[in-house]
Amino acid sequence: MERLQKVLAQAGVASRRKAEKLIVDGMVKVNGKVVTELGTKVTRADRVEVQGVELVKEQFVYYLLYKPRGYISTVSDEKGRKTVLDLLPMIEQRIFPVGRLDFDTSGIIIMTNDGDFSYLMTHPKFGIQKKYVAKVKGIPERDALKKLERGIELEDGMTAPARVKMQSFDKKTGTAIIEITIHEGRNRQVRRMFDAIGCPVQKLRRESFAMLTTSGLNAGEARELTTHEVKQLRVLAETGKIG
Ligand code: URA
Repeated sequence: MERLQKVLAQAGVASRRKAEKLIVDGMVKVNGKVVTELGTKVTRADRVEVQGVELVKEQFVYYLLYKPRGYISTVSDEKGRKTVLDLLPMIEQRIFPVGRLDFDTSGIIIMTNDGDFSYLMTHPKFGIQKKYVAKVKGIPERDALKKLERGIELEDGMTAPARVKMQSFDKKTGTAIIEITIHEGRNRQVRRMFDAIGCPVQKLRRESFAMLTTSGLNAGEARELTTHEVKQLRVLAETGKIG
């Protein structure tokens, strides 16, 4: 549900202020009825007309990007750093990243202009699993990994249960490679979880997002999600399983 004036502004009809005036002046119809109430909310299923012309709905687009390190996952940066948008083709739609990856984290990130989809993919209640591979300083004991698995106290509360697996370790360099799968997306969560067990992350990559991986892409490359993949992701968020 979006406010009517926002929908008009996003469709390029007029600025938000001018869109409000069009509504108040009785120039806008929703499903055939004139609406003058500014608080009115509409969905994509509603037919909106402005001065007799039906609004063209923005096409939803979905990209899967293999983010390299050194890019920020916002659409603009006040410090002038490169953003994930710099890696995608110029497209008409205003897309944004679904969740975020730190500047120094690489791996899979989805970009879309579909706000409802983004909510389904990121809100922890929908349980979409994201798998990370971390290279950490130190070789964590079993107990420490169990703590990460069960949930660990961070300054913004306990983390939800996670899946954790030691891939390998190297006694010479005193480092370990660990897989961790979580469905929350708090700020710098994985780094803070490893900090909490005294093994700071040296390198972090998001290897999968639900059933999606970066397979077939090099860092910095993107592809569109297929219609089937988008549907699968929705079903997964809404029912907890695919098929
Ligand atoms: N957790 C982090 O600490 N960083 C990321 O980029 C993603 C998850």
